[in-house]
Amino acid sequence: MRLDKFLSHVGLGSRKEVKVLLKKGKITVNGQAIKQPQINVNEYDDDIRFDDEVLVYRLHDYFIMNKPADVLSATVDAVDATVIDLLQDNDYRDNLFPVGRLDKDTTGLLLITNNGQLAHQLLSPKRHVKKVYRALVKGPLPSDVEEQFQSGLMLDGEQLQPALITVLNNYQEEVDVEVTITEGKYHQVKRMFELVGSKVYQLERIAMGPLTLPSDLERGTYRRLTLEEEQLLLNKN
Ligand code: URA
Repeated sequence: MRLDKFLSHVGLGSRKEVKVLLKKGKITVNGQAIKQPQINVNEYDDDIRFDDEVLVYRLHDYFIMNKPADVLSATVDAVDATVIDLLQDNDYRDNLFPVGRLDKDTTGLLLITNNGQLAHQLLSPKRHVKKVYRALVKGPLPSDVEEQFQSGLMLDGEQLQPALITVLNNYQEEVDVEVTITEGKYHQVKRMFELVGSKVYQLERIAMGPLTLPSDLERGTYRRLTLEEEQLLLNKN
């Protein structure tokens, strides 16, 4: 791969911008300052550094975000901030996108990647990937809510896949629940609660497939997946 392409790929800027860095002698390949953008490098084996910081080539990027409310899970929007706007400059790539949609007011786990094939697999209705939500809903819930969720509610004339609901705290007027679904229909969790005469006040996604929202990942922040999480995601979805 050409050195300027490599530098762009790892996030150092456009081809034009990385040319400037090269000219300044800030890039070393195997210990030697290199100024020519066109030389070929081995992206996996060569030791390529910027200001002595090792640059790691990744085929795809995977970030886990704790999405805050009021931010859209989209790539661009003319009015609102998007989850992609929350990425720092050195993590930004123009091919990154959020996997699936959380409503603007929903918080919690969101995967951001540029691996389209993986996203497709995670979102495919055939794969029944589990999504777990914590919700604060209007109470009281009907006494048979577990059975109703389990037997598959009717939504838009279609029977939903069985869903699991666990009541964590019952404050009567408000109920704190955990819900597991295996589909991703539009406003699905909110509409499921409407169907049983309730209403969602707060919704947070806490797990998706093999990924769990880390307890130390503050709302509005994100990090790269660990190698272990990445392996889990790529092998078991
Ligand atoms: N279900 C909803 O209703 N909203 C979300 O954001 C996610 C699931």
